[in-house]
Amino acid sequence: MDKLIINGGKPLNGNIEIGGAKNAAVAILPAAVMASVGISVIDNIPEIEDIQCLERIISSLGCKVKRNGNSVEIDSTNITSTNANTEDVRKMRASYYLYGALLGRFGRVKAELPGGCPIGVRPIDQHIKGFEALGASVKIEHGAIEITADRLVGTNIYFDVVSVGATINVMLAAVLAEGTTVLENAAKEPHVVDVANFLNTMGANVKGAGTDVIRIVGVESLTGCNYSVIPDQMEAATYMIAAAACGGKVIVKNIIPKHLESVSAKLVEMGVKIEEGDDYIVVQSDRNIKGVNIKTLPYPGFPTDAQQPMSTLLCIANGRSIINESIWESRLKHVDELKKMGASIKVEGRIAIIDGVGKLTGAAVKATDLRAGAAMVIAGLLAEGRSEISSIEHIDRGYPHIEDKFRSLGADIRREVG
Ligand code: EPU
Repeated sequence: MDKLIINGGKPLNGNIEIGGAKNAAVAILPAAVMASVGISVIDNIPEIEDIQCLERIISSLGCKVKRNGNSVEIDSTNITSTNANTEDVRKMRASYYLYGALLGRFGRVKAELPGGCPIGVRPIDQHIKGFEALGASVKIEHGAIEITADRLVGTNIYFDVVSVGATINVMLAAVLAEGTTVLENAAKEPHVVDVANFLNTMGANVKGAGTDVIRIVGVESLTGCNYSVIPDQMEAATYMIAAAACGGKVIVKNIIPKHLESVSAKLVEMGVKIEEGDDYIVVQSDRNIKGVNIKTLPYPGFPTDAQQPMSTLLCIANGRSIINESIWESRLKHVDELKKMGASIKVEGRIAIIDGVGKLTGAAVKATDLRAGAAMVIAGLLAEGRSEISSIEHIDRGYPHIEDKFRSLGADIRREVG
């Protein structure tokens, strides 16, 4: 197993280019499978393990998938199977977007249940509720799901919780349903909007994405198209937080600053200097950080995916900070790892009480999930001395070339191939 070795304590300076959004790309590739005519060419696809996994799954259905740098070409005109039963399906969360995509196009899908980061119970009841409301039958047996429908008919669906996955998945199924579907209490994340834009470019009729009511008028068929995925707001947030934690001046480029407003606002509250441009943010920090309180919420609230990296920064803040993780019940597992580096954190359920300590010290720690991994990298970068981060396969699922990117900013970080 690979490890990241970090000699911490170096400031970060320079420019960093952010890649395409993981959580948009992992939904857009399955959406591309819905085209019955033409080829889709999708740019700004990040080079991460989750995408490679999806490419393998989509190929196993009979799609032709070609990667060319950051661009992926998908020809789904001659799909031979609606059974997604490979081990890859169990490895990642977003494989479940094939449920909506294949159900929408073919009226049937059989797949293993999805995997993903161990951050709490991850029910899919809202996805199922949506599919059933459209007229599908859902059967779960032996760890696999089978969804079938003679026809899908649009209807009004009110989600009981705000769910990114359910919003996108039911939207996928509804674009080829008969009549109009209205999704209420929908998630408003930028990647929901990106998937809707992609579907519309394929010929769908989706309106209202980005608000909590999405209206979908079903169309007969979808056609392959050219598209470019939005920048990854969580990769950007990670580099912004790292710059704040290590000190220095970093220009985070190729982003949509609006998508990062809640993170930028928190950093400003902490005393970090933030300057926004059209497609970049400058982060300047002298490491004199004020403690703050954070509650994670659906967009446009503070994102749960930035909570763990931010908690590392709060370890060296002045005074006490309180984090309330309201989305996932087990997203504080990284705290035990931070404690090995000298952090003072008490966890009570979903609340973490962090008392700022002047410094962290390098240690051997592990990445317990994707964003926990990012949190440990930031901890290693800001700590005194040597850190060794194991289980970095979690990090590789979502951060392209993380060690090269941090090294380009002046960090002393390298991968030890295991
Ligand atoms: N929920 C239900 N029922 C459902 C679906 C969700 O109760 O049917 C609950 C969940 O238990 C959770 C809340 O609703 O408490 C939100 O879950 P959501 O469905 O929005 O999460 P997701 O779609 O499974 C995506 C991202 C996560 C990110 C969350 C929240 C992808 C592939 N994953 O997950 O990203 O934390 O939205 O923003 O898009 C990550 O990138 O590290 C990551 C975990």
